[in-house]
Amino acid sequence: MSNQLEKVKELIALREEARLGGGEKAIAKQHEKGKYTARERISMLLDEGSFEEIDMFVTHRCTNFGMEKKHYLGDGVVTGSGTIDGRLVYVFAQDFTVNGGSLSEAMAMKICKVMDLAMKMGTPCIGINDSGGARIQEGINALAGYAEIFQRNILASGVIPQISGIFGPCAGGAVYSPALTDFTLMTKGTSYMFLTGPAVVKTVTGEDVSAEQLGGASVHTSKSGVAHFAVDTEEDGLKLIRNLLSFIPQNNLEEAPIVPCDDPIDRLEDSLNEIIPDSPNKAYDMYEVIGAIVDKGEFLEVHRDFAQNLIVGFARFNGQSVGIVANQPCKMAGVLDSNASRKGARFVRFCDAFNIPIVSLVDVPGFLPGTGQEYNAVISHGAKLLYAYGEATVPKVTVTLRKSYGGSHIVMSCKQLRGDVNFAWPTAEIAVMGASGAVAVLYAREAKEQENPAEFLAEKEAEYTKLFGNPYNAAKYGYIDDVIEPRNTRFRVCRALAQLQTKKVVNPAKKHGNIPL
Ligand code: HXC
Repeated sequence: MSNQLEKVKELIALREEARLGGGEKAIAKQHEKGKYTARERISMLLDEGSFEEIDMFVTHRCTNFGMEKKHYLGDGVVTGSGTIDGRLVYVFAQDFTVNGGSLSEAMAMKICKVMDLAMKMGTPCIGINDSGGARIQEGINALAGYAEIFQRNILASGVIPQISGIFGPCAGGAVYSPALTDFTLMTKGTSYMFLTGPAVVKTVTGEDVSAEQLGGASVHTSKSGVAHFAVDTEEDGLKLIRNLLSFIPQNNLEEAPIVPCDDPIDRLEDSLNEIIPDSPNKAYDMYEVIGAIVDKGEFLEVHRDFAQNLIVGFARFNGQSVGIVANQPCKMAGVLDSNASRKGARFVRFCDAFNIPIVSLVDVPGFLPGTGQEYNAVISHGAKLLYAYGEATVPKVTVTLRKSYGGSHIVMSCKQLRGDVNFAWPTAEIAVMGASGAVAVLYAREAKEQENPAEFLAEKEAEYTKLFGNPYNAAKYGYIDDVIEPRNTRFRVCRALAQLQTKKVVNPAKKHGNIPL
């Protein structure tokens, strides 16, 4: 065999070795836990055969605690590029089979390299997390590695989409990288995220809690809102990342891909002409409205289990990607509260950063009153949503279906917050407050003087409703551009979006605003 062939053989053997990560035993252990390896995950995520791995021969440089004898090619993370639906992405996947996927200085360097490449090329960066955290043997170098990653997450924010899949442990300060990215998804039962694990919790607070109860997928998708999606299997999670990216542009200078649309834009949905119940206190399901108006009824909901009184997610109108923000009358009457406000604000800001128009569907009775909300800073959280809408320069189309009262009317993309096209259904009630509340304030004293206060208040309520419980009062002032037939909503939104395609609005130059965080 020639010298050269000998060397080629050696290369092939080294590649084989690297592809085995922490070895067959560790791979079997990973599979036993119902988890895939880093390479298996990447190959399921990317278009078939598109993965170009880099830094396969990187090893760590640690010599403490016997680490000099524990070298694995690639060192605990698989990195490189590939395509999703033909579009370039950069990816890293931590390899739990190598030292529990723990983060060494070398591993951080590999992750930073793909993040830098993603920034240079203007592509999404996807990270699959499955790690025991900072590699303990490396001490401060591992911490420095995390900080290098966080710094890049911060600079990439709003420039390229960043998506985190949590497919195993993600604990300690390591959670801050996913928290800095745009979307986080977690696998149910096999992943968790927390700053301090159950053992530390027990020592410090005495609380007995399992890893699942402390930071499992359902906790973070329903209670804390830290994660946006919970999935049953890794396959589902990887498919979801692919689907999510189909709604999102490659970077902040591009537009989301247009998908050919065979759903007629002038499709009339007669059911919408009868969806609003006669009683203002009765609910209807906003999902039905969304499903009826968007292309083929396809809606990718974000944060489905968190603050369900506000629905956010991606859909398309005539093939164009939009962000939908909609009050949900079925949940807490669609009222805005602290969690709904921060959920909405983050979503609106994502859409605005990545040139995705926002379609708001409004049926909101107001902000949730009470000490629970006030002590929880509903003022600041509500201001976040207000700020996000007011700051957004992407096309904004608002459709008011029913209630739109007071502060919540303003917050939900009203005309003065630079709503571009503001439609209302004939059932819209755009006013300072609902009829019964208004009348109770205005006629409290007079009502007491009446023989039949209830009858008196009902009369006044009817008077108020006639005057303010409609869209025409707002339309009279041009705050609503048109009152539309509900069944024609899809067509009108499609036309509004088409009209707004060349919209250009620039905010005043500044270092950055001071959103009430
Ligand atoms: C070095 C680690 C490691 C770590 C796991 N391993 N975590 N090595 N540093 N942080 C190694 C284990 O020693 C073991 O090596 C292999 O990875 C697999 O781990 P197991 O414990 O056998 O796996 P499992 O039973 O599934 O448990 C997984 C685990 C547990 C729950 C993640 O390993 C664990 O609790 N690890 C420590 C977590 C932690 O406290 N990390 C530091 C957090 S502080 P062998 O050779 O036996 O296969 C932190 C600060 C970051 O991260 C700050 C950033 C700002």
